[in-house]
Amino acid sequence: MMAKKPSGGPLTHVQLLREIGLSPQWQLREQRAVALAAQGVPVTLPDERCPAMANAIAAITELPPPPVATAVPAFARSQAIAGMSWEQLQHSVAACRACVLCQQRRQAVLGVGDVAAGWLFIGEGPGAEEDARGEPFVGPAGQLLDAMLAAIGLQRGKDVYIANAVKCRPPNNRTPEATEIATCAPYLQRQIALIQPRLIVLLGRAAAHALLGEVGSLASLRGQTFAYPAPQAGGHAIPVVVTYHPAYLLRTLTDKAKAWEDLCRARRLMRAIQATGSQAAQSLHA
Ligand code: URA
Repeated sequence: MMAKKPSGGPLTHVQLLREIGLSPQWQLREQRAVALAAQGVPVTLPDERCPAMANAIAAITELPPPPVATAVPAFARSQAIAGMSWEQLQHSVAACRACVLCQQRRQAVLGVGDVAAGWLFIGEGPGAEEDARGEPFVGPAGQLLDAMLAAIGLQRGKDVYIANAVKCRPPNNRTPEATEIATCAPYLQRQIALIQPRLIVLLGRAAAHALLGEVGSLASLRGQTFAYPAPQAGGHAIPVVVTYHPAYLLRTLTDKAKAWEDLCRARRLMRAIQATGSQAAQSLHA
């Protein structure tokens, strides 16, 4: 939803920046050369039309919910998820009982937005409001995320998809455990494979952990461009950038300027990708 003035009209760019605490307006650094290179080794995926795969999917979606851990071995489960359609993914996530996070959720939250989006933003996991409404980032952090999107000319649902590292609310909004992130990872991977975004923005450490594996501090990840292998995109990699989570920014106003730098860098990267028509970018020399 577009940010609005109290009077109801859309905010100007400067007003948007003020809204997210970045006024006076930051100047973009001079755009420099962006090296884009197709890369990545094509990986043979399991054939989605394979009957054994279809059976495995049916077995998962039709199983009555076991107490917590699914009886389906982890590898078979990930392989089945890797072949799911959006509809199957939605059902599977809604019925998932593969980790303890299922016990206290009201509902699982798959994601929201344009399923053919160029931009994919990934957060940590649903909070109380997201758990109640079934949509990611609808609480206070979500309002800031919407303002951040608007500041770089984006709007929730329009060329933007928003997902989370884990699909169920961690009790008391605690950080998801590594095992919970790992258990949910096949769902996130399938979302990426279906969307095939041109650029992924990771919001916070849990998202970075989910996509990049065990990672260092958020500060050490900022300013880099990672490559997420995307065999479906003809062996190209999807560029990935990392920035602060909006909930953290609500607590740490001083880091909003750094998040703004990251968003500007992401926007430059996307413009370069669009300019070259490439779906891969190896590095951004900022
Ligand atoms: N924080 C997140 O990481 N995701 C949400 O959906 C809401 C808050």
